[in-house]
Amino acid sequence: MISTSLENRILSIIFDRSDKKNAITNEMYLAAEKAILDAGKNSEVRVVLFKGEGGNFTSGNDLVDFLKNPPAGDEPPVLKFLLALARCPKPVVAGVTGLAVGIGTTMLAHCDYVVAASDARFKLPFVDLGVWPEGGSSLLFPNLMGHSQAAELLMLADVFGSEKADKVGLLNAVVASEEVLPAALKVATKLANKAPNALAKTKALIKQTYLAELETRMTQEIHGFAELLNGPEAKEALGAFMEKRAPDFSKF
Ligand code: COA
Repeated sequence: MISTSLENRILSIIFDRSDKKNAITNEMYLAAEKAILDAGKNSEVRVVLFKGEGGNFTSGNDLVDFLKNPPAGDEPPVLKFLLALARCPKPVVAGVTGLAVGIGTTMLAHCDYVVAASDARFKLPFVDLGVWPEGGSSLLFPNLMGHSQAAELLMLADVFGSEKADKVGLLNAVVASEEVLPAALKVATKLANKAPNALAKTKALIKQTYLAELETRMTQEIHGFAELLNGPEAKEALGAFMEKRAPDFSKF
């Protein structure tokens, strides 16, 4: 589930499903979308802070839910969440501990300040699942880190650590695991005390050149993702995940 708490004008949105490493279901995407939209309208909220419960950020899309309820329609829940995040007028901070898989990594490129634990692990497993990237990463990553790094992360899909995530520009700070939340809260508090209108206008200005293109790309990505999810390569990959074995793509 998604939990929220509002303290000192900082709204924490928490991936709170630690028995499944905080894998995100459709229901959770909708709850997170609502929390972001409400935060945008509520003058009591100055900053949004994302974190995960139980030591991990999130293991990404819930693969079981994805199989049962694949993204469908013009704006499936995962896209609603991503659009709300991309459009969030208020500063968004993330504190990453443990695993940040799939959307757990791609969403970081939408945040305004990301603190990660020195032992956090990131992974963009899309190709290994027989699908393609989401979260606007096919647009944001090459711009952020250049083609070679984006291709390495999105095509090779290896697990990488905070040193690499920092080097490619996904992070603002790397600290010891137990320091992540205090550090994220410190930054969130600083932002919460700034002039809110000036901050919102600054954020809008920073995103002005690419927000419309990002929305179009995220929509294209999710629709293509849904199509690929129906294909034979994803069936093999997801079947392998359920059966706890390695996928075999040799027949394709
Ligand atoms: N979707 C659904 N269930 C997930 C999940 C996900 N994304 N990630 C973890 N889980 C579940 C596991 O199936 C397991 O459930 P079980 O206890 O009922 O068997 C539980 O969470 C714990 O995960 P486990 O695999 O035992 O932990 P681990 O530390 O060995 O590995 C991961 C953690 C994240 C590396 C591994 O679970 C994984 O690869 N998950 C899939 C990640 C993924 O591909 N996400 C989608 C991105 S599009």
